[in-house]
Amino acid sequence: MASFQTLPGFREFYPDALARRNHLFRLWRQTAHTFGFAEYDAPVLEPLELYKTKSGDEIEAQLFSFTDKGGREVALRPEMTPTVCRLVGERANALKRPIKWFSIAEFYRYERMQKGRGRCFFQFNADIFGEPGIEAETELIALLAQNLCAFGLNESDFYIRLSDRNLWFYFLEALGFDEARSRSLLSAVDRFEKLGDEAFRPDAEQFGALDEARKTQVLAFLHIKSLASLETLVSSLGGDKLRSRLDDWKRLLRNLEAMGLSRFVEVDLGVVRGLAYYTGFVFEAFDRKGELRALAGGGRYDNLVGKLGYAELPAVGFAIGDMTFALLLEQRGLMPNLIQAPDVYVVIGGPEERLAAFADIHALRAAGYRVDYPMRELAFGKQFKAAAESGARLALIYGTDERAKGVVKLRDLTERSEREVPTTHLLAEVRGFFDGSS
Ligand code: HAM
Repeated sequence: MASFQTLPGFREFYPDALARRNHLFRLWRQTAHTFGFAEYDAPVLEPLELYKTKSGDEIEAQLFSFTDKGGREVALRPEMTPTVCRLVGERANALKRPIKWFSIAEFYRYERMQKGRGRCFFQFNADIFGEPGIEAETELIALLAQNLCAFGLNESDFYIRLSDRNLWFYFLEALGFDEARSRSLLSAVDRFEKLGDEAFRPDAEQFGALDEARKTQVLAFLHIKSLASLETLVSSLGGDKLRSRLDDWKRLLRNLEAMGLSRFVEVDLGVVRGLAYYTGFVFEAFDRKGELRALAGGGRYDNLVGKLGYAELPAVGFAIGDMTFALLLEQRGLMPNLIQAPDVYVVIGGPEERLAAFADIHALRAAGYRVDYPMRELAFGKQFKAAAESGARLALIYGTDERAKGVVKLRDLTERSEREVPTTHLLAEVRGFFDGSS
């Protein structure tokens, strides 16, 4: 065996795997178009600086970065968000608002490998710029849900956990924490699901121990899973900021209900998202059985465009990853069998017949039919076997007899019936066969 192997965590796509990947991309793209999103693309290699402090410590530690031959510090993109902010920031004045954009692209993170996690993966990203209100969240959560439903998944397969970093900050402020302490506590909350109580250990948490009474309050908030309990808590704490934020929640949930999406969305303040730039509503999609890592994640990030040096521009977005998504589809039996069968298989006699067949093969392909034939001369028996195995519905037979009569034999490989047609009518006959009119 040769010793050149794929790098750990990198993926090769043999044709069957690529057909499955294309299936995801096709439906994601189609769905994004139905929501009026426009597609963009950008470089895979970016200045390292773009991710420093902007994406957060976790992603920064996972960068594939190096110095290029010109002495530039560069990194393979670990995510699209800083890049799309640059694209939009550069042309902010020229772009019609709201800016609704999507992309499908590959990303690189030096992560510990596990099921559904690799070092390179694809994401579908969708973002809206220029819309400060919950209308943007409505649109994006709807797109996220539809991007999963388009494959036949439903509310028993996945759900979207909805949370809010603003609400967390207002809540922690009401408990008397300053912003730096609140940030540190939110990273502890982010780790709580994985680590449990450990996440709040004084040495794990930058700003020292949390007293028991506060910890109980923080844990109670983290466990809120309904609008009703959120309302109860907000009314017990009071405060204008919290109350007006609760109104945003109600409007957002009402919008989603009107779209018929309540069955997918669950209030869950245990989600805060690890990326550094989120500022408001945040959400993550998971499989219902809880067997897989996150399917998708996103939220509002109103400061990032400004932080990159452009005029401030409100933004919300999310990304779906291809790896957990494909695993879920396979688990649910929703990954179709994507055999790339030809429409027509051509069976050819001798060298003279081959030349006659070539003219028709090319004309049929130019007309859009998938046509295959044996590259080498083979006995008829072997060719018929190949035709049957190819999955084609129609075989065209070019034998010596047929050539002498100026005909081609059409064999319906499903019905096992045959008939001869004049060579001059071949294209019309093949069309008729596939349109069902002959
Ligand atoms: P994220 O939560 O880091 O968010 O990634 C989104 C999704 O990408 C995850 O839920 C997961 O499905 C997939 N993903 C992430 N890392 C890996 C990995 N190592 N292997 C396989 N799949 C992975 C973001 O990237 C944000 N930039 C999303 C966003 C867009 N926010 C606003 N706009």
